[in-house]
This record gives sequence, C-alpha cells and structure tokens, in this order.
Amino acid sequence: MRRIAPLRPLLAAAVAAAVAVAVPEAVVAQSGRGTAAVAPSARAAFVAPAWAFPVTLPTPPDPYPSADSTHRHQVPGSALRFTQQQAYDRHAPVDWFPASHPAPPSIVMHGRRPDIWACGFCHLPDGAGRPENAMLAGLPEAYIVAQVRAFRDGTRLSANPAVNTTSMHRLAKLYTDDEVAQAAAYFARLVPARRNRIVESDSLPRHRIAGLLYARDGSGRVANRGQLIEMPEDLGRHELHDPSVPYVTYVPRGSIARGRRLATEGPTGVATACVTCHGPDLLGVGVIPPIAGRSPQYLLRQLISIRTGARADAGALPMQAVVAGLSLDDMVAVAAYVGSLAPARGRATP
Ligand code: HEC
Ligand code: HEC
Repeated sequence: MRRIAPLRPLLAAAVAAAVAVAVPEAVVAQSGRGTAAVAPSARAAFVAPAWAFPVTLPTPPDPYPSADSTHRHQVPGSALRFTQQQAYDRHAPVDWFPASHPAPPSIVMHGRRPDIWACGFCHLPDGAGRPENAMLAGLPEAYIVAQVRAFRDGTRLSANPAVNTTSMHRLAKLYTDDEVAQAAAYFARLVPARRNRIVESDSLPRHRIAGLLYARDGSGRVANRGQLIEMPEDLGRHELHDPSVPYVTYVPRGSIARGRRLATEGPTGVATACVTCHGPDLLGVGVIPPIAGRSPQYLLRQLISIRTGARADAGALPMQAVVAGLSLDDMVAVAAYVGSLAPARGRATP
C-alpha cells in the first residue's frame, strides 16, 4: 500500500518548515478569500489567468436542456446503450461499465430528489471525474470528507470568482455528513486510471469553451503562448459521460522536463519538492492526496487557487510555501508532468 513509514521524519520536517513559512500569507489570504486580490506586499503580483478556468458566461439557467431521448448511443468497450437525455439525468447517472467498480451507495447513484444531485453525475460512478470537476477514485477517505467540509464552509473556493458558486459549493451545503461519509468510503477504495495524453507543442488545435471545459473548434491551429489546455478527444463521448473517453492536454515545449525538476528538486529546495510530501511516485502519503495521473487542468486550477488564497482550508497550509515559489509557467510545467504519471501502481499510462 502507501509507503508511509520510511518517509515520516523527512515529511514531518518538511511540513513544519512549510507551515512556518506559510502562516503570514494564509492570514492575508483569509481576508482576500475568493478573489485573486491579495496584499501586494505579501505576494509577488500573481494574476490568475482566465484561460485556466474555462466557463461559459452568463451561466445558462439549465446547462442540460432537453436532450434527445430517442437515439440510443454506444461507447467503445460497453455493450450498454443510453440516450443523451439519460446521460444528463442528475439522479440516475449513466454507468457504462458497471462491472468496473463495486455497487455505489445511493448518494453516488441517486443523490436526493428534488435538487440534491448524485455525486456520480459529475464525478462519474467509477470516480474517474472530468477535467471540470475532479477525479475522486483513490483519494484518501479522510481527505474527501475534509474537502467537502471545506467547500461547505467556504474555505475552499476557486481563484475565478465566476466559478465559486458552482455546483460543488452549493451541493456541499446540502449533503448530510452521513452521505459524505458513505461517498468518501466508496470513492477511496476505487483504483484510478489515467485518461490523459500530454502533447508538448508550440501550437494547439483551435478551441472554444464548451460549458466548463475546452473543445476543438474546426480544424485550424493557434499558437500556444504558455497555456495548458485540456480537451476531450471526442466531445460527444464526454457529453455521454463515458469515463474512458481520452483527453489530450497541450502544453509548451519543455514542460515535462521542467515539471520533473520541480517535482523532484522543489521550486525552492527539497522541503518544497512535490515528492517530499506526496511520496516518491506522487501517489500520496497518508492523508496527503495522490496527485499523479490526475487531470492536468484540474491540478493547475488547484495550484493557482492555492496561490491566490482562494483555496485556504487549513489542510492546504503546507502547500502555501510550495506555490509561493512557482511562477505560472512552473505551475503549467509541473501540472503537465504530474498528470503524465501513472495514477496507481501497476496502471499503464496511455
Ligand atoms: C454538479 C457537479 C458535482 C456533484 C454532483 C458533486 N461534485 Fe464534487 N466537485 C465538483 C467540482 C466542479 C469540483 C472541482 C472544484 C474545484 O476545481 O476546486 C469538485 C470537487 C470535489 C472534491 C475535491 C477533490 C480533490 O481532489 O480535492 C471532492 C472531494 C468532491 N468533489 C466530492 C464530492 C462528493 C463526495 C459528492 C457527492 C456527495 C460530490 N462531490 C458531488 C462538482 C460536483
Ligand atoms: C510540505 C508538504 C507538501 C509539498 C512539498 C507539496 N505538497 Fe501538494 N499538498 C500537500 C497537502 C498537505 C495537500 C492537501 C491540501 C488540503 O488538504 O487541502 C496538498 C495538495 C495538493 C494539491 C491539491 C490536490 C487535490 O486533489 O486537489 C495539488 C495539486 C498539489 N498538492 C500539488 C503539489 C505539487 C505540484 C507540489 C510540488 C511542486 C506539491 N504539491 C508539494 C502538501 C505538500
């Protein structure tokens, strides 16, 4: 299982050092929470880039308008068939691969009518998640519980205020502790798979915002000026909530090598190296979450939100010293590298 014992002394020292450095910043962050605005004296100017938080504004009143309920679609590898309208059912998420996971608890597959949505609608029944939300499979149980609490009490927000009020924040206030505990126990024992391919290039396909993510737009290409852009290879399969649809993440050339250096050597020395706390393979240590093989867009969003102080729950304090040493280009690089790794032991990477 997780390699906790050999790392402990180093980890304890690193966490202590990081917390000590982080405290003044975190205090500043409390007052500026939810916005990118923090006291300039406490933080070098850091502006959360809008492109890292794709969102269609104004948010449509119903993002899932009446969809086709007659054509029954298929996805590769599954014998099942579902309509687009079924894929948009917030109380009965489509489960394309029911044999790939144990039976989920009711809150994951049904939520509570009328307006408390099933976790599996967004995070998918197998916990694979999507770039616009989060992969939950294999996260530590206590970490899942703590994060839902942080969404609930408003200590975990997003650096882009436009997405602060989205679903997870609204729902976190409505789920009971018991429902969250059941969901956490379920998702924690699932084994994640990586669905991302990372492409280093000076250019990327022309793209547009489709809800809370990017999608290809036509056939041309545009220059990549320091961005990390993740897109489904097939928007149709993404919309059908197919957990095995491949995603591709475009990053500038040299990102993976730069990210590897940051992960292993740290932006400001070994106390801030990702491997020091997240473990040698970045698969997590105890309650510190695994980060390997998760959506690079998700990872980048978190680094930015921690850096601006929008994500300022107590658990994230050790990360403050880490992100303080990262430029935006560093964050792009490290998110790409971390996302390129296997998310679990023995899981092949695409
Ligand atoms: C309507 C969509 C939606 C539903 C339903 C939903 N979530 Fe989320 N969840 C999100 C989004 C969006 C995020 C990412 C927020 C961010 O970027 O910080 C998220 C993030 C999370 C995270 C943070 C993961 C991490 O790695 O830190 C946890 C834990 C989580 N959700 C648990 C749950 C649980 C448990 C349920 C059901 C009881 C649930 N969510 C239902 C949308 C949803
Ligand atoms: C001093 C210890 C420490 C170091 C070093 C560290 N982390 Fe973390 N990291 C944490 C802790 C603890 C959390 C959990 C935060 C929480 O509970 O909210 C975390 C959370 C994260 C998250 C959010 C995960 C999620 O599921 O939302 C990301 C992304 C992350 N770290 C990336 C990195 C990267 C990249 C590096 C290296 C550049 C790094 N961390 C170095 C301790 C550390």
